[in-house]
Amino acid sequence: MTQSPGLKDAQQRVQALREQIDYHNHRYYVLDDPLLPDAEYDRLLQQLAALERQFPQLLTADSPTQRVGAQPLKEFGEIRHQLPMLSLDNAFTEQDVSDFDRRVRERLGLTADDEQVEYAAEPKLDGLAVSLLYEGGRLLRGATRGDGSIGEDITQNVRTIGCIPLRLRGNTFPAVLEVRGEVYMTREGFARLNQQQQQHGDKLFANPRNAAAGSLRQLDPQVTASRPLMFCSYGVGVVEGKYLPTRHSDWLGALRSWGLRVSEQAQVVHGVRGCLQFYHALGAARDGLAYQIDGAVYKVNELALQQQLGFVARAPRWAIAHKYPAQEELTEVLDIEWQVGRTGTLTPVARLAPVSVGGVTVSNATLHNIDEVLRKDVRVGDTVIVRRAGDVIPEVVSVIKERRPAKVLSVKLPVVCPVCGSEVLRVDGESAIRCNAGLFCPAQRKEAIRHFASRRALDIEGLGEKLIDQLVDEGLVQHVDDLYQLDIEQLAVLQRMGEKSAQNLIEALGHSKQTTLARFLYSLGIREVGEATARTLAEHFGTLQAIIEASEDELLQVPDIGPVSASYIAAFFAEPHNRQVISKLRKAGVSWPEEASAPRASLPLSGKTFVLTGTLQSLTRDQARERLQALGAKVAGSVSAKTDYVVAGSDAGTKLAKAQQLGIAVLDEAGLLSMLDNAAAHPPQ
Ligand code: IVH
Repeated sequence: MTQSPGLKDAQQRVQALREQIDYHNHRYYVLDDPLLPDAEYDRLLQQLAALERQFPQLLTADSPTQRVGAQPLKEFGEIRHQLPMLSLDNAFTEQDVSDFDRRVRERLGLTADDEQVEYAAEPKLDGLAVSLLYEGGRLLRGATRGDGSIGEDITQNVRTIGCIPLRLRGNTFPAVLEVRGEVYMTREGFARLNQQQQQHGDKLFANPRNAAAGSLRQLDPQVTASRPLMFCSYGVGVVEGKYLPTRHSDWLGALRSWGLRVSEQAQVVHGVRGCLQFYHALGAARDGLAYQIDGAVYKVNELALQQQLGFVARAPRWAIAHKYPAQEELTEVLDIEWQVGRTGTLTPVARLAPVSVGGVTVSNATLHNIDEVLRKDVRVGDTVIVRRAGDVIPEVVSVIKERRPAKVLSVKLPVVCPVCGSEVLRVDGESAIRCNAGLFCPAQRKEAIRHFASRRALDIEGLGEKLIDQLVDEGLVQHVDDLYQLDIEQLAVLQRMGEKSAQNLIEALGHSKQTTLARFLYSLGIREVGEATARTLAEHFGTLQAIIEASEDELLQVPDIGPVSASYIAAFFAEPHNRQVISKLRKAGVSWPEEASAPRASLPLSGKTFVLTGTLQSLTRDQARERLQALGAKVAGSVSAKTDYVVAGSDAGTKLAKAQQLGIAVLDEAGLLSMLDNAAAHPPQ
């Protein structure tokens, strides 16, 4: 046979590319230490695919381009396991573990107290068992465990799993090697998959294990290829070869050296103490792992001893799974209620028939938000999976639809706040439902007062969080206007509050009454109304009454106010409860100079943007900002091409450097003061 020109070169190039790709694949999937950016890796694959198209005679089944490509199957074939795939007995308590160890020692005749058994301890991954058969280092076949004797032929599917090598690395592997391990999905992969499923209107998976099982048992390998599956090896089945390891832990090392993924947590430990230490350390790390585990597995490490121990029924005598308490249980939804948080967000909470999850009784679980309730379609009367992990609040994971009784109604969305009866608002595009009565609602009371009193709002000195708690808890203050009804006698009897501090607080309350419209607006704690928006509103409308009366459309005319802020502002002032509090505040004497609005453009510094940096001597930065803003200037936080002036006090840092770099005018303190004076004296033409 004559070789076509270039074939020889192509052959070498194909060979080199495959080695390169295998190497990078291994770094990425097995060592978690990729060297190449994904795009570069893809380019290598494309080069190889192009060569294989040009020279089809060079194509082999173990080429990295051949992970996907097989046609969908009608059904899976059967595979008989030459050595049965066993399962494990479970231990639930420390006593169970020590009983297991005692049985092992008795059978091995290691009865003296100081004769400890060496165990290989590993995490018990929560996925499904798979057998991979390699011959001559090539992946020949993949099978599920099935009933332990006969499994399904999932060769085409396992080939699509990136971390399963199509060819083993090196040359020390046995001629025939059956690798056993777990196919699983990381939590992140699971979340991503469910997100996609939802976007496509497809069925959601209840947990990563189900998602892994569902993804692996696909007749179309293209589907499996699109799912984020992983494989971790934990042992071997049939092996034919020389110089084989004699300890389980050495097998794991060998598997790793041949390019397979092996648990990083696996350890050699001694005796029951070692096992339990491993169990507790792994348990503490459990919630932080990238994947779910449901226990630890202890295996007698010496293979000769394993042989001696043998197995009973379907499980070996030389290994045991020490389970962690379950994190998920089934229970029934008795009711769905809405809780109001301190900022007014309504959170749906499922009241559950009490169930013990991981040793703790759970009778409430969060449903997060309205979108989640609708997505999961949870209804009163449903049987649901609840999950509790670590310190996280228990949550409803999913509904077992098959168990839904006839005629259950879908959840009714709240129209009024369950705490204060005010109307609730759901802004388009947001998944939160909120109570509008920020100033009135008892659930939001403390937060509303804290914000009202804060420095940039009404600046009530001395009214901190602890004091607010006391005032509300003692029933002295319900709404912000009640603050102005307090007297010294009431305050002086509070804990940690003497006559002097009571006096000071009353004075501070008195001072706070003289304010500006912008500060007052900000102090109301309307969602989306920060200081800047409050100022814009004040300037645009001039009076509070005008803002209260403004329609949503009128609000939208104001520069920088978008549809979301407009609807929050309109809803806030439409709520009679809020208006009532505002009018009481005004009656108590809260006031500001209310002038006809002076449109921004006519102020002397309108259109100019300032950035303040460093320390000023004669005024604080807040004061400088307020004076600049009063003259129409904008004060920004960072220097950009849009900045007109940077005001640099002492110790100015990077902002000053940036201004110099951009050629922006820099003012020192004297320069700023003279500009302020000038601008105030000479309005622009
Ligand atoms: S050893 C004879 N090791 O648990 C030994 N199994 O309940 C058989 N599993 O079917 C398995 N992590 O799917 C072993 N480190 C681990 C494991 C593990 C998870 C699964 C496996 C097996 C089941 C037994």
